[in-house]
Amino acid sequence: MAIAAPVHQTSDAVDASGRARRIRVAVAGATGYAGQELVRLLARHPAVTLTAAMSSGATSTPRPLPALARIWDKAVTPLDIEVLVSSADIVFLALPEAASAEIAPKLVERGLRVIDLSGAFRIRDAADRLRWYPATAALPAGTVYGLPERDAASIKDAKLISCPGCYPTAALLALQPLADAALVEGTVIVDAKSGISGAGKAPTDRTHFSENHGSVAAYGVFSHRHNAEIEQELKREVTFVPHLVPLDRGILETIYVSLRKGTTEAQVARTLEDAYRDAAFVRLTGAALPEIKHVAYTNFCDIGWKVDEGRSRLALIVVLDNLVKGAAGQAVQNLNIVLGLDERTGLL
Ligand SMILES: NC(=O)c1ccc[n+]([C@@H]2O[C@H](COP(=O)([O-])OP(=O)(O)OC[C@H]3O[C@@H](n4cnc5c(N)ncnc54)[C@H](OP(=O)(O)O)[C@@H]3O)[C@@H](O)[C@H]2O)c1
Repeated sequence: MAIAAPVHQTSDAVDASGRARRIRVAVAGATGYAGQELVRLLARHPAVTLTAAMSSGATSTPRPLPALARIWDKAVTPLDIEVLVSSADIVFLALPEAASAEIAPKLVERGLRVIDLSGAFRIRDAADRLRWYPATAALPAGTVYGLPERDAASIKDAKLISCPGCYPTAALLALQPLADAALVEGTVIVDAKSGISGAGKAPTDRTHFSENHGSVAAYGVFSHRHNAEIEQELKREVTFVPHLVPLDRGILETIYVSLRKGTTEAQVARTLEDAYRDAAFVRLTGAALPEIKHVAYTNFCDIGWKVDEGRSRLALIVVLDNLVKGAAGQAVQNLNIVLGLDERTGLL
């Protein structure tokens, strides 16, 4: 795929008479942070019709989404599997993982395709999954882990696409090509910072404004589920330490790598450039280190780096918006792969 001007419609998305072929999509969890981003993107997507947006069902009163007025003005209705089955071809789940674990297999069984943003179906090893996502009994047949830049071939025909977590998306995009090229040695350290929206809309002691404003705190050290996910995908040991920073959105990861002895800066650059030459949403910035502000509200992941050739050390700096490339945008990118569209459709 050559990277040219933004594309909103491609020939794959039109029928023989030139009319747009509309796929019906629905969002469960539409009142959450990730779900609202999904509604915003899908309501304007040129190849799909958003037929339903659902809340938890804890309240039976339909409610509007004020932030999305004039983008999508229909009501948000309580979660209802029968309505999803009758109104959608593809369902996006932006739910707590226990709810996804329960609902996704039912939808797959009824013949729908599911794009799940939760962690419920990310871990393949049953014992590891029991530890990190105990509500998930099994992975339905046809489940794939869907990092679009790497897994497009398996995403295309998947029944259930388990979208990567926000932290793993950044870590894997930066590290996978270097690990595949055998340039990485020993343990990798991923030092990650995230804005508060990464924790969802319900405030807790840690995410409450008055706790977080003016402070930075580490959390989940050696106990964060994303550590297991990154290790599963990278197939190597990773030390992952996340921090909450007083931003509403955005992730920055500083990744420390011991390089194979003799690796040059040019080799690192060439490996990443080769991997992402055709990737619409990965921007390589090299020594011009990226910042969260460069990617906020976009589906881009920016990767910068510095190599200390004398001591075979590499520092990668990776940024993305946790609600877009780390969640809703990546899910829509996966939808585009499923539909055979240009990956940028509805995103650029
Ligand atoms: N936030 C991020 O940066 C991010 C990034 C990547 C992946 N994710 C994943 O995406 C999912 C959603 O995250 P979020 O941050 O958007 O969460 P959130 O802001 O807490 O929103 C949760 C959504 O799920 C609904 N819900 C809650 N409990 C439910 C239940 N038992 N059954 C059905 N619906 C229920 C809520 O509806 P009500 O409004 O009615 O409560 C709301 O729409 C999570 O699995 C999360 O791990 C989040």
